[in-house]
Amino acid sequence: MRVVVVSNFDSMSDEVAKMVIAQVRNKPASVLGLATGSSPLGVYRLLAEYYKNGVDFSRIITFNLDEYVGLAENHPQSYRYYMQENLFSRVHIDAANTHVPNGVATDLQAECGRYDELIRHTGGIDLQILGIGSNAHIGFNEPGTPFGSQTQVVDLTANTIRDNARFFASPGEVPTQAISMGIKSIMSARNIVLMANGGSKADAIHAALTGPVTEEVPASVLQLHPSVTIVVDQAAGSRL
Ligand code: GLP
Repeated sequence: MRVVVVSNFDSMSDEVAKMVIAQVRNKPASVLGLATGSSPLGVYRLLAEYYKNGVDFSRIITFNLDEYVGLAENHPQSYRYYMQENLFSRVHIDAANTHVPNGVATDLQAECGRYDELIRHTGGIDLQILGIGSNAHIGFNEPGTPFGSQTQVVDLTANTIRDNARFFASPGEVPTQAISMGIKSIMSARNIVLMANGGSKADAIHAALTGPVTEEVPASVLQLHPSVTIVVDQAAGSRL
């Protein structure tokens, strides 16, 4: 595991964007695993700049980690909408190559199986970008999620619902379930980069990197992966 501590959000974004661009240049038909939340916003802005400067995303295939159950793709808080706004429309990626779980599928279980199958069918994820929840969740895999889990419907914890309430008009509007790639699905990626900034992530980063590998700290599983880079700003890395 490589740990990079940088000074602030902008340098964290810069570091991760460079890794993504290296992957895209090295393999123009790369499969990228993407995350939402506030942590990757700077990376997506930078990728749009690289696109303007000639980097070609036309053959890139993407899979997002998760989606809220019950939010259609045109809901402004859905992760599909977020991706469309913050990345897909800005780098003119082929819409058919972008995948986000369908949170309004009539058969949610079938949707989970379809998603894992699709990832396998494309040959697996080359580079997976991750954020981390303040309780060390990755994707929406909350503490206690089995390391062997694949894409599944998950119940969000009160902690996560509280953390995400800032994006919704009222806490009552925050969905209580999501479809999330499982821990095993995430660990199948060939390379992983996890990014975190801000003091609210310091405990999660400390537990994930220096504590025991346990299902109670989902991100601790990354200690078992052969190719992981952790990029944190000084605040998030303050307990390392
Ligand atoms: C949500 C997402 C995670 C993300 C986390 C942290 O729970 N499902 O993928 O890592 O939020 O979000 P932020 O980057 O806004 O702190």
